[in-house]
Parts: sequence; structure tokens; C-alpha cells
Amino acid sequence: MAKPLLCLAFFCASLWWVAVAASAAGLRLELTHIDAKNCRTGEERVRRAIERTRRRLASMGGGVAAPVRWSETQYVAEYLIGDPPQLSEAIVDTGSDLVWTQCAACRPGCFGQDLPYYNSSRSRTAQAVPCDGAVCAVASPETRCGTRGGGGRACTVVVRYAAGDIAGLLGTEVFTFRSEKVRLAFGCVTASRLTPGSLDGASGIIGLGRGALSLVSQLRDTKFSYCLTPYSRDAAVHPSHLFVGASAGLNGGDAPVTSVPFAENPKEYPFSSFYYLPLVGMTVGSARLAVAAAAFGLRQVATGVWAGGVVIDSGSPFTSLVDAAYQALRSELVRQLGASLVRPRIEGLDLCVARGDAGGVVPPLVLHFGGGGGDVVVPPENYWGSVDAATECMVLFNAAARPGATLPLNETTIIGNYMQQDKHLLYDLGNGVLSFQPADCSSM
Ligand SMILES: *[C@@H]1O[C@H](CO)[C@@H](O)[C@H](O)[C@H]1NC(C)=O
Ligand SMILES: *[C@@H]1O[C@H](CO)[C@@H](O)[C@H](O)[C@H]1NC(C)=O
Repeated sequence: MAKPLLCLAFFCASLWWVAVAASAAGLRLELTHIDAKNCRTGEERVRRAIERTRRRLASMGGGVAAPVRWSETQYVAEYLIGDPPQLSEAIVDTGSDLVWTQCAACRPGCFGQDLPYYNSSRSRTAQAVPCDGAVCAVASPETRCGTRGGGGRACTVVVRYAAGDIAGLLGTEVFTFRSEKVRLAFGCVTASRLTPGSLDGASGIIGLGRGALSLVSQLRDTKFSYCLTPYSRDAAVHPSHLFVGASAGLNGGDAPVTSVPFAENPKEYPFSSFYYLPLVGMTVGSARLAVAAAAFGLRQVATGVWAGGVVIDSGSPFTSLVDAAYQALRSELVRQLGASLVRPRIEGLDLCVARGDAGGVVPPLVLHFGGGGGDVVVPPENYWGSVDAATECMVLFNAAARPGATLPLNETTIIGNYMQQDKHLLYDLGNGVLSFQPADCSSM
């Protein structure tokens, strides 16, 4: 699957013809939490996210090529596609690239979604990406010139996620995000073989990764930012937001900003798409954990396959730590929490305290970054959560202990969206820096 960087660079130039520049204001997208529409309580939302984690892991019987966790993603953006516009909903995923939506032609090969499937015959702005031109051939590792179902050649697109595969045709369409219109290359998906429930009713994904086909790459923007409202808050009243381009940025304010340089990516797809961070250690309470920085390092386990590393992913609900770090954190918390610990009442959870206790007894977790990066403080509510009426538990998991976890996923640390809530995150790709600022995301 590896492609020389040269191809990607070439494609970035040739993609220009499909990307109509968005206005100088940039794009602003409102995000809803998947469960918000169903009026669930905060505990139900956390429990459902845990169930989704377990369900996906149970299906990961090996052969997983990449730590892509989009199937558990919880934050969804609504947009319009085509003219006249059709409504669509996409999971926002910094762990993958392609923008895609299920298409009417795929029935019954698609999973159910809450909205009708997008039908390109009903849009006067739908266009196919030609197979013969250079664009399809070098577009990205996901695309190639192939044979379509009814015969003839077409630019096909295939993406493998941890939860399965999607396949379809690469086309272009006019996307409307609020008042901004932009023409984007996207996957019109005609076959999806995914773990049932993976998308929880959404129509597809908006990829924000580093690859050429992601939303941010297609717009030729060099920054985006988002602020995720906690699961427990009423998302119908307080939606989360994603900003791409000129509208992206931190809002000022007094809260301290921590900047962390991105770590260098492997050149091979899909590892080339991820946002790696140079985590070197952790402190819980006042105890620095005895974990070597090397535990968080990237290493090549086979040609083009990389294990380890630390990826920040809006598409995973919960953080999973490499085994050495998880074990050290767990023993230190057991020592510090002592008699406050109670037995977990839900399978898959490890450390719990009585409901209402976490805020008082659970210490903050501090993530230490190398490369001149600062420390990010994770308050208790960003790694513990209420799971039922009686208990609050740690919702941070051991990457190696998950059933069926194999290389490279079982040795990669993933910073999930629960840990990112109520922080404004600015991905400044031009300068290679990720900035974090504590924020009340519901007031944006
Ligand atoms: C798509 O729309 C066209 C035009 O309205 C319609 O004839 C066709 O049946 C639709 N396709 C599907 C699969 O619903
Ligand atoms: C990860 O899985 C591989 C098998 O795919 C195994 O050999 C390795 O020991 C596992 N690593 C950890 C830390 O459990």
C-alpha cells in the first residue's frame, strides 16, 4: 500500500481542480453527540460508549492493519450535499482521510442510517472523477482505476477501518456546511462491510487526517480546531463545533494554552494519515509514573507496518494506553485511592469509586510531551465517568488487554475524544503544532 511521498505531493497540486476554495471565513460545522438525539442521560451515554468499544473489539479477530477507531466515534456533523441539497450526517474523524457517504445505489449492501441515502441522480452537481486522468491513479492510497459493477471503468475507492471495509466510487459534489459551499471529492459508498452499529445511524465519515483526500487537505487549509461538549451535557442545547480554515483558532481568554509539536509520521499509509504526538511520560497526582519514554515510541514491526506511538483521535471515545503505561497508572491509582475503591459493576471496567466521589478523590493526570511541548492536565472528569447510579469508573483502557487486540493496535496509545472534552484543540498543520486550551465548549 505504500506510495512514495512524491505521489501525494503531486496529487495535492492536481486536486486543485476539484477543490473550490471556501470563502475567506473558513468553514464552521456544528457537531451533535450521537446519543443527544435520543435524549439519554449522561450515564447512559458513557455506558453506551463502553458497549460500543466492547462490541467493536469483539469483532477485531486479527488482521487489523491500523489503529483506526472511527467506529466508536461519537461526534457527528450535519451537512448538505448536492443541488437540490440532500441532508447527510458524518462522524468527524481525525484518524482517517476520506469524506464519504452511503449512496442510494448500494442498497441492500449498506447498513441502516437515520437519513435517506444520498442519490446522485437527484443532484445536478454530482460529477464522476474520471478514471483515465492522472487524478484517480495517484489520488491517494485509497483510490484506483477499476471496473464498476455494470462494466466500464471508474475511479474506485476502498478504505479499511478497524471495524471493516467500505467501497464505492470517487466523485465530486457540492457540500454545504452552514452557508459555505465547497466542491469536494468524496466516496459515494456502494458497499459497506462494517460491524453492525459502527456508525450508529450516521451516513458516513468526514476524514480530517493528513492524507490528500481529507476535508482539510482538499480545502488546502493548514489548520482546523474543535471543541467537544462533554457527553453528559445536553448537546441539543450545547452543540460542539469544528472550524476549518480561517475560522479555526483559540478564542483567547485566560486559560493557559499548551502547545505540543506533532511527532514525525511514518511515510506508509495509513500511518502517514495519523496525528502522532511525542508523549514521553505521565504523572498522576504528584507521582511521576515509572514508564520509559520508549514505551510510547513508534517502531516498525514489518515492512510498512508501525506499532506503538501516540495518536490523537477524535474518532475514539476512550483513551487506551500501551500496557506498560496502563499498568503503572493502575497501580499508582490503586495506591492513592485505597479504601475509596469499590467493585466495578459493569464488565470491562477496572477501577471504580462510589458515585460522587471521583471529583474529590481521583487525582488529575498530567501528560508530559517531548520536543519542547508542554504538559497537558487531564482533570478527573476527563478520564473517569458516571456509569450507573452508584459508581464512577475510570474510562481509560489497556490497549493490550482488549480481546482480540493484535499488532499494531495493541501497542499503540490512542487519545480519545472523552479526554479531549471541554478543551479547544487547534491543529496548526502549517507550523506542525497542536495547541490545547481548557474551554467551556458549550458556550461557543
Ligand atoms: C434515485 O433517484 C432517481 C430519480 O429520482 C430514481 O429514479 C431512483 O429510483 C433513485 N434511486 C434509488 C436507488 O432510490
Ligand atoms: C500484541 O500482539 C502481538 C500479536 O499480534 C503479540 O505478539 C504481542 O505480545 C502483543 N503485545 C502486547 C503488549 O501484548
